[in-house]
This record gives sequence, C-alpha cells and structure tokens, in this order.
Amino acid sequence: MIYLDNAATSFPKPEQVITAISRYCREIGANPGRASHRLAREASAVVARTRRLLADLLGGVDPSRIIFTPSTTVALNLALKGLLRPGDHVLTSSMEHNSVLRPLHHLERLGITHTRIPCSPEGLLDPADIRRRLHPETRLIALVHASNVTGGLMPVAEIGALARELGLLLLVDGAQTVGVLHLEPERLGIDLLAGPGHKGLLGPMGTGFLYVRPGLDLDTLWEGGTGSRSESTAQPESWPDRFESGTLNAPGLAGLAEGIAAVQERGVEAIAAHEIRLMERLSRELRHVPKVVVYGPSRRHECVGTLSFNITGVTSNEVAHILDTAHGIAVRPGLHCAPAAHQTIGSFPEGTVRVSVGPYTTEDEIQALVRAVEQIVRFQR
Ligand SMILES: Cc1ncc(COP(=O)(O)O)c(C=O)c1O
Repeated sequence: MIYLDNAATSFPKPEQVITAISRYCREIGANPGRASHRLAREASAVVARTRRLLADLLGGVDPSRIIFTPSTTVALNLALKGLLRPGDHVLTSSMEHNSVLRPLHHLERLGITHTRIPCSPEGLLDPADIRRRLHPETRLIALVHASNVTGGLMPVAEIGALARELGLLLLVDGAQTVGVLHLEPERLGIDLLAGPGHKGLLGPMGTGFLYVRPGLDLDTLWEGGTGSRSESTAQPESWPDRFESGTLNAPGLAGLAEGIAAVQERGVEAIAAHEIRLMERLSRELRHVPKVVVYGPSRRHECVGTLSFNITGVTSNEVAHILDTAHGIAVRPGLHCAPAAHQTIGSFPEGTVRVSVGPYTTEDEIQALVRAVEQIVRFQR
C-alpha cells in the first residue's frame, strides 16, 4: 500500500517509536507521578523527557508550559474555552478546521463572538484584513498555520508581529506544521500553540499538546487527581499539573519522545525540503493531466506536504475508491473536517481528493499516483 494520508496521521511510525511504546508497556508500566517506587519514578522520567524534547524542538521554551493532551482538538478546546470570556471577540480565517470552528460556534451561546476573515480562492490570508475586521472587543486571533486541505501556509510571523502591535493574543493550530517546519512560538509571537504528537512528530495516536507562553493564564476545563498537593481539594496552581488531571498516555508519550528524536535526527529543514520537493513535482505533473483541477497556492514553496485535486466528472469519493482498490494508494476524499476551507477554494460540498506526504514518502510513490490518475482520466474518456 502507498500511504498518502499523512495529514490525518503519519504512517509508518519509526521503528524506535514502536520499540519505546512496547518497552514502556513491558518494562515500566507504572503511572507517572502517582507513587515513589522505582517504576513510577521511571514513568515520570519518561514523561519529563518527552516534555523536554518537545520544548527544545519549539526553540527552547519552558517545558512546564507544555500541557500534554490526547490530540490537537483537545488542545484547541482547552485554549479557546480556558481563555475566552463572555463579551470577547475572536478573529479567525475561512480556512480553519472544525476543531477551531466548532468550539467557536459553541462559545457563541456564552456571548463570545467571532469573525471569519475570508481568504482568497487559493486559500491565502491577507494580514491587512485583520486590521479591517478588528472590533473593540477583539482579544484573540485563532489561525491554522497550514491548511489541511491545500497545505497553504498562513503568514504567521507577520500576524504574530501584528498581534503584538495591536495587543491581541495569537493561538496557532499547528496540526499540519509541528515537526515539519521550524516552529518557535516565542520568535513568531505565538501565545498559544496547539499541535499533534501523531502527525509531523511521528508519535502514536492519542498524543498532542498545548503550549502556553509564560505569564498567560488559562482556566481549567477539568479538575482531578494530579499526584501533587493531594491534601487539597483545590486544583494545584503549578504548571503543567494544573491542566493534566487524570492518568496520562504514558506509553504514547514514550513513543512520542522517540518520534521527536527521529525528527531531530533527520532535521526539520530536511523534512520540509523533501515534502515540498515531492509536492512541487506532484502539482506540476497533475496540472498537465487533462480534466485534473489542482487547488491551493500555485507557489508550492508556500505550502507543506498536502495537496488537493479533483478529476472533472468523477467524485472525490470515486477517485479515492479507485486509487485504493485498483492501485493500492491511500488518499482522503471529501471535506476533511474543514467545510469552510472547501467553500473558500470552491470545492464545497463535493470536496477534493487530498494527497498528503510524510518524511518516508518516495518519488516513486508520487510517480505511481500520477500514473494512476492518468489512467483514471483515460478510462473516463
Ligand atoms: C488543521 C487541523 N487542525 C486540527 C486537527 C485535529 O487534529 P487531531 O486529530 O490531533 O485532533 C486536524 C486534523 O487533521 C487538522 O488538520
């Protein structure tokens, strides 16, 4: 099988990730922070190491400001619901995933409003529109770093500088960029960064995180046992315990540490260059196939390793089905949990065929996809 669905979760995982999960389950097994015996201490050390490796990857941030979550979605909910208060206004874009748009929709019932800034038909945001859409109550800009539909990058550094100038907070959804691009929140003016452990960081599913810059406080969304300050019924004030009630996915975090190590060994720049090169080739070759429409920015160096296309006259579901069953190629059709993005690029409600590569995707696999698409088009004629 040729796996081109890395935007959903990366696959394959490096062997060292699988070994670390298995080793945790076989040899450690204990609950981190819940006892002082040797196995519990080892478990705590595993979680602390993962936090440190991630903090280093994010440009040397304070590890205690990294909250582990089961996914990007949980991290985004914690950021939005922990931060916003009735009367606040949020600026967001028309390229967001439902994991931003649905919490914002839900928060409307508390009197928290938002404005979706329309992006261009290529899915790109003009930062000048942020100034134009500003309200007196605007407190936060919530922005996807790279679209999970087109791969197109948002001008996060420029928007970070603008947010600082305007006294606004910036929350970035790094679901498609953490581990794929150099993402240093402090340098980019990002106050909160939500990300997955299971995509670009090559860790297992059930891992994710929220980074919150020092000095910024959040409300908790759930409270409970943390293994610390057990004498008190009040939630501890210390980070990250305050936000990590309940048993952590320690085997997953053991795997995530090795995923981060694998990313560091290859180098983030090398991974980005590899994915952009594959996508430039795919975009160029697909644009030459009759009846194929490619979406998103034409300048592929402004994208990560995700691309959407359609074949005129064939639904995205049919194309994905043929690729799967006749060619052994895994892609994702439809709306990709981002209906607003498809409205923006003109592919709603049908959606697109999404191709997303990873560090282990090869040129030969991209060539096989192009040949398969050519064959589907020939067959249609
Ligand atoms: C842009 C974007 N945001 C958020 C998410 C949700 O991520 P998770 O599956 O880690 O909850 C995804 C998942 O595909 C995504 O692509």
